[in-house]
Amino acid sequence: MKKLGILLSGRGSNFLAIHRAIAEGRLDAEIAIVLSNKPDAPGLEAARALGLKALAIPQQGKGTEARAAHDALMLAELWAHNVDLVCLAGYMRIISPAFVAAFPNRIVNIHPSLLPAFPGLDAQHQAFDHGVKVTGCTVHFVDEAVDHGVIILQRAVPVHDEDTAEALAARILEQEHIVYPEAIARVLSGDYAIQDRRYLRRSS
Ligand code: GAR
Repeated sequence: MKKLGILLSGRGSNFLAIHRAIAEGRLDAEIAIVLSNKPDAPGLEAARALGLKALAIPQQGKGTEARAAHDALMLAELWAHNVDLVCLAGYMRIISPAFVAAFPNRIVNIHPSLLPAFPGLDAQHQAFDHGVKVTGCTVHFVDEAVDHGVIILQRAVPVHDEDTAEALAARILEQEHIVYPEAIARVLSGDYAIQDRRYLRRSS
């Protein structure tokens, strides 16, 4: 059984969607560890309530050295739990090149926009404020640049005239919860090839 390591910083609804997909047999994997840089992240509490191992590793600062030291502690936990795939689920901290190199093409992230549009923070608000008519969410491999790696799966979400940014964000989140477990299942199947920036499925 493939082991997932989940990294989160907040409420953890994507983590819970992954957990639900496993419980419902849509995703053949187990969650080996949930890690957070935020000790008070509601997602950590939710993980513990589900009987999962959940640990906070508080961040010590944002400088290169502090980041490397924090990532080394995170990596030690992921290795100790024999994690096959690292899933960033609202993990709002940039990870270091050493972290990326430790899990080559084995770190995935979900981002609430159709990348490469609107990388960075508050992507749903960025899209809303820009006035786009279609936005969505993207699951991608993590590389050394922010919200940049090879795209695995995207789902489009329409923007309605009567929308608020909050209503739009909620509509995107619904799709995130569907698309993230599906993308993780695809990656774990190993049935894909990467050509340049293109993720290509070998079978459907
Ligand atoms: C989600 O919308 C996720 O796409 C976003 O944070 C939210 C976390 O919610 N991630 C990013 O913006 C990463 N750049 P959750 O804690 O309920 O899963």
